[in-house]
Amino acid sequence: MRSLATLFFATGAVFALCGMAWGIQMSATQDHTLSPAHGHLNLIGFVAMSVFGAYYALTPTAAVSRLARIHYVLSVATILVLVPGIVLAISQGAETLAKAGSVLALLTMGLFVYTVLRYGAGVERQSS
Ligand code: HEM
Repeated sequence: MRSLATLFFATGAVFALCGMAWGIQMSATQDHTLSPAHGHLNLIGFVAMSVFGAYYALTPTAAVSRLARIHYVLSVATILVLVPGIVLAISQGAETLAKAGSVLALLTMGLFVYTVLRYGAGVERQSS
């Protein structure tokens, strides 16, 4: 089974591929209306997920925890709800999905704060 860090990096890179293709499409059509959705896909989907992946690669005790798996699921759910939510908010003025996505984003980051405080960062040495 793949490590959690690998899952975070691989999923983040897939989101980046989608976000970049979307950026190229916006440039080609000269229609930048949905650029906030593109920005969030790239920044949360790729940048934040890669930061999370780096943290779990450096901190194996955190990576094997059940919380870490919940963190991964919440991160992916954030993108799958927030990005279409921003599209709907811009194109139709319907904000419910975007609001739900923002709450998921907040929970994801809150869980990360808790994880870092609980497990620390890196491999901590026992003092002798
Ligand atoms: C193939 C790669 C990419 C292309 C062609 C592209 C293209 C674009 C375009 C055309 C815009 C609209 C600019 C405007 O209206 O002024 C935009 C906005 C933006 N892009 Fe990208 N982009 C790419 C990759 C990325 C990446 C990797 C990130 C972040 C890691 C990113 C973050 C943003 C942000 C934050 C905005 C501004 C969103 C806003 O105005 O609300 N983009 N991009």
